[in-house]
Amino acid sequence: MATRCGAAAIVAAATLAVLLGVSLSAPESALVKSLPGFSGSFPSKHYSGYVTIDEVTGKSLFYYLVLSEGKPSQDPLVLWLNGGPGCSSFDGFVYEHGPFDFHMPKAPGQIPSLHLNSYSWSKVSSILYLDSPAGVGFSYSKNKSDYITGDKKTAADSHKFLLKWFELYPEFLSNPFFISGESYAGIYVPTLACEVMKGIEAGTKPILNFKGYLVGNGVTDEMFDGNALVPFVHGMALISDELFEEVTKECQGVYYLTENTSSSCVTKLAEVDQDVSGLNMYDILEPCYYSPNSLKVNTEGSQLPLSFRRLGENTGRTLPVRKRMFGRAWPFRAPVRPGHVPSWPELLSSSNSVPCTDDQVATAWLNNPDVRKALHVAEESLVGTWELCTGKIDFHHDAGSMIPFHKNLTLRGYRALIFSGDHDMCVPYTGSEAWTRSMGYKVVDKWRPWLSKEQVVGYLQVYDHNLTFLTIKGAGHTVPEYKPREALDFYSRFLAGTPI
Ligand SMILES: *[C@@H]1O[C@H](CO)[C@@H](O)[C@H](O)[C@H]1NC(C)=O
Ligand SMILES: *[C@@H]1O[C@H](CO)[C@@H](O)[C@H](O)[C@H]1NC(C)=O
Ligand SMILES: *[C@@H]1O[C@H](CO)[C@@H](O)[C@H](O)[C@H]1NC(C)=O
Ligand SMILES: *[C@@H]1O[C@H](CO)[C@@H](O)[C@H](O)[C@H]1NC(C)=O
Repeated sequence: MATRCGAAAIVAAATLAVLLGVSLSAPESALVKSLPGFSGSFPSKHYSGYVTIDEVTGKSLFYYLVLSEGKPSQDPLVLWLNGGPGCSSFDGFVYEHGPFDFHMPKAPGQIPSLHLNSYSWSKVSSILYLDSPAGVGFSYSKNKSDYITGDKKTAADSHKFLLKWFELYPEFLSNPFFISGESYAGIYVPTLACEVMKGIEAGTKPILNFKGYLVGNGVTDEMFDGNALVPFVHGMALISDELFEEVTKECQGVYYLTENTSSSCVTKLAEVDQDVSGLNMYDILEPCYYSPNSLKVNTEGSQLPLSFRRLGENTGRTLPVRKRMFGRAWPFRAPVRPGHVPSWPELLSSSNSVPCTDDQVATAWLNNPDVRKALHVAEESLVGTWELCTGKIDFHHDAGSMIPFHKNLTLRGYRALIFSGDHDMCVPYTGSEAWTRSMGYKVVDKWRPWLSKEQVVGYLQVYDHNLTFLTIKGAGHTVPEYKPREALDFYSRFLAGTPI
């Protein structure tokens, strides 16, 4: 475990190492030697453990580090954060861009099997998966009052984590450092990036080599996110021209509920909701109830034209694309508002609007005692069972709109990639496209297709100050899950600083 005492020892060792002229390596006690379900050899080293960020309450954040399979001493180091709030970053590790493809066990009770993922983001970078804030995933506190938190406290805690983590792994201080995440991490990423920026400007040691950040289908701003859905569902042919005209007229172009919403607007918004309520909000092309067992039944019962039925399934990954995902993002009917953010377990008890969850493979694997031991997870009495998204935390949105944060960061030269799976209805691309444009920066690379394997796989627009908005054609909310090869392509090019 990487506690503060451990950090002090490592710093002492670092001083000694410098004196002796030898190069340092990461803490051996954190090395992941093997993983149940995987029988090959790791393509790169993995480390995992805790950093205690509050000695008094025992607040400890869990990380899993995958070293680059390229040149770990030079390749960028990228922090990854899933959203929620309340969701574990093992979501990204298991389902999106981690080093393994997870296969469902052949029989119940068996451990999932792990195979190498050819599109792992560790092909070109080291990745640090962080469970944040405390109470999420394997992160915990001994004092449960730490589970009452919000945007600002989460950003400050994650910054504290980073400073201590780099003390444990000083060899990464010279690598270019990026912060990334998706969904509610649209809040985590810019708020943490601003903490890092302020730390650098204040000369807080260690000085991080922070270069930029990536946000996928990220929550950003109440107005832009709130206004995104109606134009999206109209453009995607999910509502009629007539309804679009009516809702535009009745709501006067404000397509989300505010204190001023008229009752005729509420009625029209409800009609829109009704039209799209049967869809999978995380990917409108995906069947809603889709699992290995129900696949057959679902596609047979589908009213989609035959040519559409299997769209989105052909992801090159071995796991079936999940059904509606539990708790990883905002329900589209509720744009981000200041104040308490309801967790999905809370929403579930009050309505039935978020059915079908499937996190079986991750839940089975991460709750296996041998896996937890291999990962250096603290005892169950402290951490509890692993959940994809937890209702344990009481989370408050208290940082407001992210636009001022993006302004500050980009104006100081930090590079930003705002990417968007263009078939996500949860945080639709229309909102991200609109807010990036609203920054008012000059267009330096005008809207154009971008390619992977000589095919158009999305569109992008680059603005001054290295702000890029990019879509991934046919991808849902969790882009690397749906389009792993394309995701690795834009990710590699962005990190390398070459045109996408
Ligand atoms: C937990 O922390 C809160 C706030 O810091 C404090 O008031 C409380 O006494 C602590 N509880 C325990 C059991 O230490
Ligand atoms: C509601 O209307 C009032 C009065 O016109 C205005 O001041 C306020 O900003 C409006 N609220 C929203 C959320 O648009
Ligand atoms: C942006 O930077 C300005 C000037 O340093 C600062 O006053 C402001 O608080 C910052 N805003 C955010 C959201 O970080
Ligand atoms: C954009 O990023 C590149 C690579 O880091 C840098 O050379 C360039 O100066 C940046 N441009 C602006 C306008 O910040």
